[in-house]
Amino acid sequence: MNKILTLSAAFFSAWTMFSTPDSAQAAPGTADAKTAPKVLVAYYSYSGNTKEVAEAIHKITGGDLFEIKAEGSYPDEYRAMTQQAKKEISNNFRPKLTTSVADMAQYDTIFIGSPNWWGTITPQVSSFLESYDLSGKTVIPFITHGGGGVQNTIADLAKQCKDCKVNQNGWVGYGSRTFGIAGWLEDLGFKK
Ligand SMILES: Cc1cc2nc3c(=O)[nH]c(=O)nc-3n(C[C@H](O)[C@H](O)[C@H](O)COP(=O)(O)O)c2cc1C
Repeated sequence: MNKILTLSAAFFSAWTMFSTPDSAQAAPGTADAKTAPKVLVAYYSYSGNTKEVAEAIHKITGGDLFEIKAEGSYPDEYRAMTQQAKKEISNNFRPKLTTSVADMAQYDTIFIGSPNWWGTITPQVSSFLESYDLSGKTVIPFITHGGGGVQNTIADLAKQCKDCKVNQNGWVGYGSRTFGIAGWLEDLGFKK
């Protein structure tokens, strides 16, 4: 009887060793769930393009999706809106954030998304970068634009992100374009 029990116990422990449940399996692009980087996809979006790109990234990387929101508002009229944004940027305005990441320490890799505003990142994204200790973290920028391309966005983001490792191979896409995101992420080691 004891022999049967011992054999069953041995079989059970071997089975648990070799049949890892799905939830504990390695994350895409990594060898081991324990060493898989915990990902945060954080973004600011005024008119929806960067939000669409953030969602497309998050679909592949998993992890947590976070919308950066801040106090203040902009005029409905487009030109007046862009003029206010221009003034804010030239005054280094930092709006007070109204959403917050509960535990930033848990993340190793942070995708940060911003629209290109006047050639740079938005004041809301600057507030985000200055509100957290991101030192030592891998930061992967993603930028949406209206035809100007990257301009100073990624360089300014890197300057404002103290002691973080900013990947220079960020996503730079016109409007809400998401075509090519899977390949870009695969190059970075993320596969669905
Ligand atoms: C205030 C403001 C300034 C902008 N400045 C630029 C610019 O300098 N270069 C550019 O290519 N697009 C510029 N755009 C266009 C946006 O970058 C583009 O539409 C972006 O995808 C918007 O993202 P969102 O929908 O997530 O807000 C600007 C848009 C706004 C509202």
